Order: sequence, then structure tokens, then C-alpha cells
Amino acid sequence: MLLDYLSNKSENNPIWFMRQAGRYLPEYRVLRSKHKSFLDMCYNPKVASEISLQPIRRFGFDAIILFSDILVVPHAMGFNVDFKENIGPVLDILDLNKRNKFNSIDKFSKQLSPIYETLKILSIAKGKKTLIGFCGSPFTVLTYLIEGGSSKDHFKTKVSILNKKTRVLHIIQELINYSLIYLEEQIKAGAEVLQIFESWAGIPDKDNYEDLIIKPNKKIVEYVKKNYPKVKTICFTKGNQKYLPIFLEQVPCDVISVQRIEDCDIIKYCKEKNIAIQGNLDPVDLYIGGDYLKKKVKKILQQFREVKHIFNLSHGIHPTTPLENVYKTIEYVKEIDVTRES
Ligand code: CP3
Repeated sequence: MLLDYLSNKSENNPIWFMRQAGRYLPEYRVLRSKHKSFLDMCYNPKVASEISLQPIRRFGFDAIILFSDILVVPHAMGFNVDFKENIGPVLDILDLNKRNKFNSIDKFSKQLSPIYETLKILSIAKGKKTLIGFCGSPFTVLTYLIEGGSSKDHFKTKVSILNKKTRVLHIIQELINYSLIYLEEQIKAGAEVLQIFESWAGIPDKDNYEDLIIKPNKKIVEYVKKNYPKVKTICFTKGNQKYLPIFLEQVPCDVISVQRIEDCDIIKYCKEKNIAIQGNLDPVDLYIGGDYLKKKVKKILQQFREVKHIFNLSHGIHPTTPLENVYKTIEYVKEIDVTRES
């Protein structure tokens, strides 16, 4: 469905939501309560495929996103990763002063093999839906390794960029290598579209943006494009809209996933280059609901009517979101005909 739209074979705006499988769904909470460890669920093909399908069964979204996490890559490289309730991820800290030894490619691939099994199950179950695989962008994954988890100020990451740039670039290259193996196996297992999550694109300043954000995303997208021309790529660069033009000039992604776009030049540029825009309903607006939500949905559909557009959130759905608002949003997107109503 989503793939057909991107390949010009269908005209209906597709819709899916980031974190569409997760804690806002009662059926997810039931499964979650039966498993102590979040990572165990990610590595259990039966459970992970079931969770990936839950939002499809309930709402009929146009795409299925693999249920997993961006931090399985450092985990399979040999770092301990744990997800703690009310804290979030806790990881072994990467020491940039040492030469780091990561797991062999064989060990890495073996550890991630249940995730490929999940994709195989989903590619059989998917029917007409599009199957989305993903990974974290190297810089975003690196922030978790430097900070040992989530961070409010990313102080250690910023200091490392300034004091140890050569080491940082070396580790980024390692993360690119492992991520490409991971993505390639996802494609072989049935992923048709890949989303690359650069959730922390807002950290580097202009001087470092090219090396840390643009080049790694470019390498990944170009590799996929060259070796798997039918697979589409979505880049999600969160927190740095002002560098979007230079990002898009250099990274040949099929889709750019955006937060807040008020800039018509970007829309014009994407139209000219045949880049689809994904987004950009604010999760807060989805939570609020009612007429306010309807107005926002309509505004987004109108704003992007000239360009290829995948309806989505600007970032993940909030766990307290009322289910009713998700049903309504899908209804509006399928109903509102902007060409007629504008
Ligand atoms: O979108 C989907 O439905 C697919 C699954 C998915 C998850 N995480 C499941 C998850 C995807 C695509 C991700 C990506 C991810 N993970 C990102 C990039 C996108 C973003 O949110 O910026 C990042 C930075 C992570 C790292 C991560 N995972 C954090 C910081 C946390 C803790 C915050 C939280 O929401 O709990 C997680 C945990 C996580 N990943 C959960 C889910 C459903 C919640 C875990 C639980 O149920 O206990």
C-alpha cells in the first residue's frame, strides 16, 4: 500500500504512526505484563510479530513496522542493554579512550537472527500492507553509548565531539558497517521500506553536522539504493529543520520524515526532486482530539497536497493517547478530500 504509493501505483495517501505498537494499546500492555524484559520480547519472533500486527488489526494502518528497538544493534555488538521501567534504556558506556573490541560479524548476525524471523513471519502475514524495517542512525546510537542511556543535555556527547572527533568518527564508521549488515538481512527477510531514525540530529552544530549526520545517512541510503533499488528509504532527522535543505541535497532518500514544516521552499524542493514527505501531526494534537485534531489533520493534508505525502506523527505516539483519537485521525485522512474542500 505505502510502497505502491511511493512507486506511483496508487493515489491514496498512506497512513501509519511511529510507535504504533506500544503502551497506548491495551493489547500491548497485556503482552508486556507477561514478559519481564523488553529485549526478550524483541528477540521473540512469535511475540514481536504479534505486537507488530496489533495496530494493524485494530486500526488498519497501511504499513506494519517491525517491533524492535534501535538499541538491538549495540546490544548485538556486545554492549549490555537493559530497559528499566520509568528510566528507559541503560547501556554499557563506550570508552572513547580505549580501542574497542566489538562482537564478530558472525556473533552479531546470530544474535539478531530472531528479528529476521519476525520479519519473515510478518512478510507472510502482511497481505497488501507494506512492511517497514528500521535501524537507528549511527550518531543517534552513539549518543546512547556515550551517555549510557537517554540524556537531557547530551553533555558527554557534545564534549566528545569537540575533544575526540577522530575516535567519534571511527566508531560511527563501525556503526555504519554493522547497521548495513543488519539492514541487508532485514531486506532479505522481507522488509520493503527502511526507516533510519536520527532522533538526535539537533545535537551537532553546523561545523559537525556534515560529518556526523549527513555523511553516515548518505552512506546507508546510497548502499541500499545501489544494492536494493526496489527498497525505499525514509530518513527521520529530528530536531534540526534548518539543515534539512543541505541534508536533502546530499542524501538521496525516498522519503523525509519531518516535525514542523512551515517552509514552502522545502515542499517545493521535495516536489521537484520527487521526495515524499512523511508527517507531521504533533503527538500532542493527537492526544487532544476533538475538532482541534480534525482541523490539524485537514491543515496537514492541505499543506502537502502538491507533494507525495505519508500521513504520520512528527515523533512517537504518547502512551496516554486515547484510542478514539487514532480511529478518528485515520477516518479523517481517508475522508477529507482536500482538492474538493480547499
Ligand atoms: O514504531 C514502532 O512501533 C516500532 C518499534 C520501535 C520502538 N522503538 C519500540 C519501543 C521503534 C521504531 C523504536 C525506535 C527507537 N528506540 C528510537 C528512535 C525513535 C525515537 O523515539 O526517537 C529511540 C531513540 C529508541 C530508544 C528507546 N527505546 C528509548 C529512549 C526508550 C525508552 C522510552 C520509552 O518510550 O519507554 C525505548 C523503549 C521502547 N522502544 C518501548 C517501545 C514500545 C517501550 C518499552 C516498554 O514497553 O517497556
